[in-house]
Amino acid sequence: MLEHLKPQPPDKILQLMQAFRDDPRENKIDLGVGVYRNAEGITPVMRAVKAAEKRIWETQDTKAYTGLAGDPAYSETLSRLILGDARDEARLAAAAMPGGTGAIHQAFELVRMANPGATVWLSAPTWPNHPSILRHLGMQMAEYRYFDNTARDIDFAGMIEDLEQVRAGDVVLLHGCCHNPTGANPTAAQWDEIAALLERNGAIPLIDIAYQGFGDGLEEDASATRMLARRLPEMLIAASCSKNFGIYRERAGLLMAIAPKADMQSVTQGMLNHLNRQNYSFPPDHGARIVSTILGDENLADDWKQELEEMRLGMLGIRRQLADELRQRTNSDRFDFIARHRGMFSRLGATPEQVEKMRESHGIYMVADSRINIAGLNAQTVPILAEAMVEAGV
Ligand code: LMR
Repeated sequence: MLEHLKPQPPDKILQLMQAFRDDPRENKIDLGVGVYRNAEGITPVMRAVKAAEKRIWETQDTKAYTGLAGDPAYSETLSRLILGDARDEARLAAAAMPGGTGAIHQAFELVRMANPGATVWLSAPTWPNHPSILRHLGMQMAEYRYFDNTARDIDFAGMIEDLEQVRAGDVVLLHGCCHNPTGANPTAAQWDEIAALLERNGAIPLIDIAYQGFGDGLEEDASATRMLARRLPEMLIAASCSKNFGIYRERAGLLMAIAPKADMQSVTQGMLNHLNRQNYSFPPDHGARIVSTILGDENLADDWKQELEEMRLGMLGIRRQLADELRQRTNSDRFDFIARHRGMFSRLGATPEQVEKMRESHGIYMVADSRINIAGLNAQTVPILAEAMVEAGV
């Protein structure tokens, strides 16, 4: 049987992680996988996470199963964090998932169960695992233009033109904030236009929100998701706590489905539970419990917000420093977009050959499409990257 298996194409981001590990150079710089690092290059366990884990260790007296949707306190606190006052309890179904990827996978399966003919529309470009999971599930997908490689900004006219073709019942995957891989995000006015178009065409938004708090702030980063939740009858939201709580390996994600009417909530919730049961039964609990412990305690929540804000401001500082360095070195403003972009990533606009050159000459690792992880840089390495970019002719 196993002789029939074919090798799968490697995941480019994970492949890069390995190549970095294998590089013996001491001064190598990892701008690949989207993992936050502080100025010392460490991915710290956040203070509030440590405190919550201690509390859980001291007070938890059973490891018996939770429910198929996970611990209700997790869904409740996290859905409040994301949806704020746009949260309509009567129409909201939610279930814990193993990470943001788990939530995305389950969202696609939910779409396939509800409407097997639906096309899922993805931004060009998007996180490579989006199309990969859709292919794995045998689902139909299409792309909408999103990024203008020359302007290094959103190609909004192209995006709207492509989304005009979306049919009723199709699903449009949108990055709630901090677009991965480009770092370019719609303005509030553009989000309004997107909402109007989806309303007109009867399409359903699926929001992937994995970086809330990394862009303009916790509340600001959720504002597009909240606006869509207020305006549209139906919506899916796949959320991740990997980055903003720094609990990558704990696999804490949440899938929310907002039903058009309250009387559809129960069957929708049942479907989320059913999908969990079919795929892995009960979702992991430890990461989810860390999140609900933090969000359910004012002191822990304040401390978490403060540390998250420090991380966000650190990344913004690096963005500004890199844009400044490049302004000086190139005597132009063509890299100012780096300071305007938000979140962990920016796409520099280098060719794959230039990316390769930077890796060979300076040990700088970035995804072949020239996506960099801003948090992989610090005040000392920013000038090295700027120099390498100029040398490579970016
Ligand atoms: C990334 O885009 O680098 C992250 O979301 C990590 C991953 O799983 O790919």
